[in-house]
Amino acid sequence: MIRRVAEADTEFWMRLAGIHAASFEHGWSADEFRVMSNATHNRLYVAESDGVILSFILLTVVAGEGEILTIATAPDHRGRGHAGGLLKHVAENLVAENADSVFLEVAVDNAEALALYSRAGFRSAGVRKAYYSRTGAPAVDAHILRLALD
Ligand SMILES: CC(C)(COP(=O)(O)OP(=O)(O)OC[C@H]1O[C@@H](n2cnc3c(N)ncnc32)[C@H](O)[C@@H]1OP(=O)(O)O)[C@@H](O)C(=O)NCCC(=O)NCCS
Repeated sequence: MIRRVAEADTEFWMRLAGIHAASFEHGWSADEFRVMSNATHNRLYVAESDGVILSFILLTVVAGEGEILTIATAPDHRGRGHAGGLLKHVAENLVAENADSVFLEVAVDNAEALALYSRAGFRSAGVRKAYYSRTGAPAVDAHILRLALD
């Protein structure tokens, strides 16, 4: 089941932060998730099963344009279409609102995410040089990707 979440208890934000920390080098805290999910223009959607958070997506929507801030699937639940399902859900909602497009940045070495976005219909819209810092390694470029909704 996919649902939009704004208000939740501390334990929920901690579970999101746990999935994020397992997915990215620079994790966000439970409090950062709480604040960002409640910020004006931001939307959090989660895919759950029996109360377990499988995957989530946080995006901001301004003036008919969406930007994905983060997306992750719990490591044990990857490869089952959960992130793809969330992207589809978000795109359908934005189409219904007459939005134009959705943007995101993704590290050029993140093969799984690049495959996911390509299948979802995202196409290249540029490159940001040295966008992601890496501990003990050079910063990595980001692809800017765009999904056209019209
Ligand atoms: C990138 C990420 C979000 C993908 O999440 P996911 O839920 O595994 O994505 P999906 O399942 O929708 O798609 C991934 C794979 O599952 C496959 N898949 C989709 N539905 C499936 C199903 N019903 N059964 C089996 N496999 C399936 C897809 O074909 C794809 O496989 P492929 O890459 O070999 O072609 C996840 O790997 C992740 O959290 N990574 C760390 C965080 C990250 O990098 N986020 C993106 C930052 S820009």
